Amino acid sequence: MSWDALYSSAFDKVRENIGKIDGVLLAYNTNIDAIKYLDSVDLERRIERVGKDGVLRYSEELPEKITSVEHLLGGILWSIRRGKAAELFVESCTVRFYMKQWGWDELRMGGQVGIMANLLGGVYNVPVIAHVPQISRLQAALFKDGPIYVPKLENGKLNLVHPKEFRADEENCIHYIYEFPRGFRVFDFEAPRENRFIGAADDYNPNVYIRPEFTEHFEEIAKKAELGIISGLQTLTRENYREPFEEMVRHLEILNARNVPVHLEFAFTADETVRRALIDVLGNFHSVGLNEVELASIMEVMGEKGLAGKLLADDPVDPVAVTEAILKLAERTGVKRIHFHTYGYYLALTDYGGDFVRDALLFAALAAAAKAKLGDVRSIDDVVKAIDVPVNEKAGAVEERLTGEYGMKDGIAEIDGYQLSFAPTKIVARPKSTVGIGDTISSSAFVGEFALRP
Ligand code: AMP
Ligand code: GLC
Repeated sequence: MSWDALYSSAFDKVRENIGKIDGVLLAYNTNIDAIKYLDSVDLERRIERVGKDGVLRYSEELPEKITSVEHLLGGILWSIRRGKAAELFVESCTVRFYMKQWGWDELRMGGQVGIMANLLGGVYNVPVIAHVPQISRLQAALFKDGPIYVPKLENGKLNLVHPKEFRADEENCIHYIYEFPRGFRVFDFEAPRENRFIGAADDYNPNVYIRPEFTEHFEEIAKKAELGIISGLQTLTRENYREPFEEMVRHLEILNARNVPVHLEFAFTADETVRRALIDVLGNFHSVGLNEVELASIMEVMGEKGLAGKLLADDPVDPVAVTEAILKLAERTGVKRIHFHTYGYYLALTDYGGDFVRDALLFAALAAAAKAKLGDVRSIDDVVKAIDVPVNEKAGAVEERLTGEYGMKDGIAEIDGYQLSFAPTKIVARPKSTVGIGDTISSSAFVGEFALRP
């Protein structure tokens, strides 16, 4: 079958069956994204005003956190020079105020949980329960209408209400997202790819603050869940990870006891201690989602430095190196499903088989193309319209390599008792923005797969 035909049939099947999913628990990170599309002249002027040398230093090596305007502008420049995403915690009030005055072009739902809640609940109409660390009026207003719920304690009783009905006046957790297109120029630097730098002016999500409704009533909340997705652990450090980790493991145990499959959205975790701790608990998850940089960072701490290097060497990344790495990760941790995504293709390694795994990947690629094109997916019609976006031209060579190495057919192969599923993805040439595409991919594929299970 052609990929066009496979795409179209996958979309129809998911649309028909997604209504079967009743309750996805999403925890822990939700915030407000203030998106600023960078302007070269403005950025150069700002860099010169604070001193070019001081800024350039941090574009060579990222600071650990942002405590000065030099750190902020240097971080932005670090991302532009490499075309790579980065996110740092903004500690200083002065820099927070500087970013606020610099302003934004758009306010959008942010954080993996917030983005997935709006997509699953607001677009696919799948009921979700979201953990929102701080429900400010602005944060609540960014939730779409639909079956999106947060737990609320009323007279000692736990009720589920839409965030807009929560009516608390908690704090704003704002992440300033500095987006730049491919070819963006500042001084002599040119961005090799579109991407973004994030400054998080937020005291809750970076520490994975967990609300009392969740710490005190998780058993009751878990009863409403058929699936779970956990994210937001990436900003933890060796100093602060123990407490939220303990609580997360307790949540996982409760969900596992109820046979609720849980997905971990990995995200780039700079701290090696935290990364190792995540690998140690991965076996308690059904599934994990990651990109090439994240997979390489895991191979690093698993002592597979050669493989880590191969994962970062080529664009698109060699699918045989990816397969070797995800096989090692599956063997080491026992996680049942690994969903790898990169610019141009996705792979899923599962310890079970069936076309539905590949079909869910194809559905996710349509959702990702819609998100890239529009910045926000408004309806399921936006997703189907993405069928017109062409399949990445480089994916043909990736498929040939998989066919040659593993005898892959129609995107499916058997390796060492696992199924490997492949999807060549649709790439939007000039995306509106890049933030949140990974979350769109992982949540659509995970939930889509359970909707399609026989
Ligand atoms: P992450 O690396 O987690 O931020 O997720 C980014 C993912 O989004 C990549 O791995 C690609 O699969 C996908 N992606 C990035 N840019 C585009 C684009 N222009 N069109 C479609 N998908 C994209
Ligand atoms: C991280 C960022 C958040 C952004 C999200 C997108 O969680 O902190 O601002 O919306 O990634 O994936």
